[in-house]
Amino acid sequence: MKTVRFGIIGCGLMGREFASAAARWIHLADAAARPEIVAVCDSAPAARAWFEERVPTVRQSVADYRELLANPEVEAVYIAVPHHLHRELYCAAIAAGKHLMGEKPFGIDRPANDAILAAVRAHPGVMVRCSSESVFYPAMQRLCGLIASGAFGRIIEVNTGFMHSSDLDPAKPINWKRMIEFNGEYGVLGDLGMHALHVPCRAGWLIRNVRAILSDIVKERPDGKGGRAPCRTWDNGTLLCETQDPRTGEPFPLTVKLQRIAPGQRNTWYTEVLGTQASARWSSTNPCLFEQLRYTPGGAQAWEQIQVGYEPAFKTITGGIFEFGFTDAIQQMWAAFLHELVHGAPASSFAGCVTPDETAKSHRLFTAALASQRDTATLPVPTA
Ligand SMILES: NC(=O)c1ccc[n+]([C@@H]2O[C@H](COP(=O)([O-])OP(=O)(O)OC[C@H]3O[C@@H](n4cnc5c(N)ncnc54)[C@H](O)[C@@H]3O)[C@@H](O)[C@H]2O)c1
Repeated sequence: MKTVRFGIIGCGLMGREFASAAARWIHLADAAARPEIVAVCDSAPAARAWFEERVPTVRQSVADYRELLANPEVEAVYIAVPHHLHRELYCAAIAAGKHLMGEKPFGIDRPANDAILAAVRAHPGVMVRCSSESVFYPAMQRLCGLIASGAFGRIIEVNTGFMHSSDLDPAKPINWKRMIEFNGEYGVLGDLGMHALHVPCRAGWLIRNVRAILSDIVKERPDGKGGRAPCRTWDNGTLLCETQDPRTGEPFPLTVKLQRIAPGQRNTWYTEVLGTQASARWSSTNPCLFEQLRYTPGGAQAWEQIQVGYEPAFKTITGGIFEFGFTDAIQQMWAAFLHELVHGAPASSFAGCVTPDETAKSHRLFTAALASQRDTATLPVPTA
């Protein structure tokens, strides 16, 4: 099996998730390639120490990302840093000829995303993708299979979103994800939006216009130093989008709910597609449960409840009767990245990581959504 030597820039929450997925690569039954983490970079020494102590293949540990990018041993990088750094670091990695898995939102705003996409176009030999893992839940793969086969008929409505409640507690101290200078004007849209838009983008659905209602619910938080700090990022966003299905040419409403303050929700991704011939839905609150309704005129309109087992896109050693979870989805996403790197194409259209063009679509929507909130108006979403 081919080995791809990786550097990680940003050794926080997500950097560690990649290290964990890579460490149990034997879990995958027939992976196209295996990642080997040979270099790490973080401005915080304590964050690097976690890797130095636990990942024996790490041979370079640096505070300056330029040193890691200058390392000829590094073939690919995973960059998981705060949003204000995406533009500079992603562009530098691409210019250095490193294959890149970047994190969402892939630039703090649309100009940053435009700059990253220009770097991608200037270096066609470098593979660049954006992280998004929920599509790899087996039940979501089933739902995506129905989209790919046109099983829904004319789409009546699609509802998707990502909601949690980690910000419900007003006493939670502020961190970079709640500060506009590091997280961006998008706030929750940039933080959670790409997850919810992965499948709509991959399905080829065209978002024509948007009416967004954004909420700033907790306006200041403890600053962690005994004082208070303003919290100016949007906490919650609800987007109603007129969307077109190119398969039928017909429009349908798409709702996208992105919420950091959703009482009762711990970490809920969901997608529901309602169509004239079939409907289906999935939510990570009950990750094995896949619900579908196949409609035949005159027949009963009955929702079937199917427990989907461990049946991921990339085969593993785990038996099909067992349960699948978040860390499995992360590993599947990495298997998809490496599959595409080795084979030049995803294993199937929905078993692929988010492309740079798909991130650009999300930025066009988020930028229009901010203007929609400001103007209390329905605004067009540019297609390019
Ligand atoms: N795919 C997902 O499910 C998911 C989940 C959470 C976060 N994210 C995304 O991942 C990215 C990182 O988020 P996180 O939760 O891992 O954040 P984090 O705060 O846990 O980690 C970020 C790391 O970047 C380091 N850093 C800051 N400036 C740096 C610099 N100049 N050079 C090198 N390192 C630097 C910090 O010291 C920190 O260790 C963000 O884009 C975020 O939106 C994705």
